[in-house]
Amino acid sequence: MGSAAKPKVVLGVSGGIAAYKACELLRRLTESGHDVRVVPTDSALHFVGEATWSALSGNPVSTEVWETVHEVPHVRIGQAADLVVVAPTTADMLAKAAHGLADDLLTNTLLTARCPVVFAPAMHTEMWEHPATQENVATLRRRGAVVIEPAVGRLTGVDTGKGRLPDPAEIFEVCRRVLARGADALATDLAGRHVVVSAGGTREPLDPVRYLGNRSSGKQGYALARAAAARGARVTLVEANTGIADPAGVDVVHVGTALQLREAVLKAVADADAVVMAAAVADFRPAVYAAGKIKKKDDGGAPTVELVRNPDILAELAADRALPGQVVVGFAAETDDVLANGREKLRRKGCDLLVVNEVGERKTFGSEENEAVVLASDGGETPVPYGPKEALAETVWDLVLPRLRPAT
Ligand SMILES: Cc1cc2nc3c(=O)[nH]c(=O)nc-3n(C[C@H](O)[C@H](O)[C@H](O)COP(=O)(O)O)c2cc1C
Repeated sequence: MGSAAKPKVVLGVSGGIAAYKACELLRRLTESGHDVRVVPTDSALHFVGEATWSALSGNPVSTEVWETVHEVPHVRIGQAADLVVVAPTTADMLAKAAHGLADDLLTNTLLTARCPVVFAPAMHTEMWEHPATQENVATLRRRGAVVIEPAVGRLTGVDTGKGRLPDPAEIFEVCRRVLARGADALATDLAGRHVVVSAGGTREPLDPVRYLGNRSSGKQGYALARAAAARGARVTLVEANTGIADPAGVDVVHVGTALQLREAVLKAVADADAVVMAAAVADFRPAVYAAGKIKKKDDGGAPTVELVRNPDILAELAADRALPGQVVVGFAAETDDVLANGREKLRRKGCDLLVVNEVGERKTFGSEENEAVVLASDGGETPVPYGPKEALAETVWDLVLPRLRPAT
């Protein structure tokens, strides 16, 4: 791809201790074909110097509006951008952006940009939770910016709590999705919404070392969670046994069994606008859990495992909606008579949408790709051709969107 065709990304870096992590984000952006202009603040340069940003981006770096004035950088950089991402965003930068201050190159750029803007705040928990910061975040979101929720974990020094910069790989994923939706979409059509997604496969323990499980990787559920977060939703992801890193800006609840998943999902949906059940939940579990490892018998025989039914969480969510108008979406992996079985399942479960996919060699379990038909309770049928799981995720949210109850 020639430089002219490369999407132009402005990477704003403000003066937080996590500024060094923006180097990794910059590397991912440049290596994936983006033309990146780094605009640090003066404070950011205390943490990582100009030479690093310039060498890694291959572009000039400046912090203020008084250099190369003939090129009018305080206007041009923002105007030309396809995406602005500020990582880390300090509490100070959130305040400046929310109030429209323009006292350096980055804040000028934020005012002149007409493309999507992503903020990745990082700060101590007290600063993040302060009403001033929260109001600034709300203001920016209301205006259409994507503000990624900070992660919970180790902060500067010995402190831990909410305020950590999410993994650069996760910020990169958010940027990629926001860019893919184009400058017009502004990527926040789910802003103000709470959505719940389940992902992965439950494991039903037999004894302390064995379980009954399934081959779900969780990738489709994670794609759904990331897509919803990039579109501005507050996302709760209930994951079972995926081993995948927590996506940026998503509240993740880790569970193991079907019963644990049910409990976590029922709790999360209490104030949710939509729930998407992408997890493969075991239909059955062993009737008895053996406290000690089940031993081989000397007579060569094998034990018989009695199974009991697990609750049908999807049917329960659909029949007993936590809020009127809550949208309930299910997934069905079928091996034969895919559409007929899907229609029957949609009717039986009572959900609004059912994503029906055929279990096959290159798709569904563990694969990066999927192919599906989304069936709607009103008779609609939306085929999604073979492609990345992200594309299916976007289609699911596109179909959920018009079915959501009016925003409060
Ligand atoms: C060692 C150190 C670490 C800091 N880390 C953060 C941080 O993680 N988040 C934050 O909001 N401010 C942090 N600050 C405070 C900011 O640097 C300060 O508010 C500064 O004015 C921000 O300027 P800027 O927003 O123009 O980059 C830190 C300051 C120091 C000295």
